[in-house]
Amino acid sequence: MKVLFNAGEIARKVKELGDEITAAYEGCNLYIIGILKGGFIFMSDLVRQVRMPVRIGFVRLSSYGNSDSPQGNVRILDDVEDAVQGRHVLIVDDIMDTGQSLLAFKKHLESKGPISVKICTMINKTQRRIAPMEPDFYGFQVSEGFIVGYGLDYAEDYRALPEICIIEPGNGEGNA
Ligand code: IMP
Ligand code: MG
Repeated sequence: MKVLFNAGEIARKVKELGDEITAAYEGCNLYIIGILKGGFIFMSDLVRQVRMPVRIGFVRLSSYGNSDSPQGNVRILDDVEDAVQGRHVLIVDDIMDTGQSLLAFKKHLESKGPISVKICTMINKTQRRIAPMEPDFYGFQVSEGFIVGYGLDYAEDYRALPEICIIEPGNGEGNA
């Protein structure tokens, strides 16, 4: 396992993102929705760098089956309780990979009448993208490899690592 970004680099990047989001949503009624579990650490750091009053919510998404069809296999396990109608919504997650889960959740929210729905992920992993979408804000871009730490897991391990690491293919720890 190799460290890609250490805690200091992550903190600087999150501050930058907080500034970017603060500027983008000036004067707006912003509702930030974090995706559990992977987004929990990034979400808690990011909301403290957004310098405006915000509402906070969390949902859990679950992918199931092996379907290749975009969006068809994403379930929303806990839905948002607060109304998104008439609000700007920012979805916060750990990583965008194929993009299928975030596309499905974005469409779900869009059906509830928000003013806008945008996406912020800590990692933008580009090579396996299937859904026709990009994060509107992201911290770091990587092309491929399996990333852990800072909320990201490998079979539920490593979420609490303060660094963002890559599990190197071929060392027996997995190479998804
Ligand atoms: P999607 O393929 O963009 O829909 O991502 C679905 C989910 O797969 C993400 O929210 C993560 O939970 C997980 N995932 C994708 N790539 C990685 C990775 O490199 N490390 C850990 N989890 C990942
Ligand atoms: Mg996730």
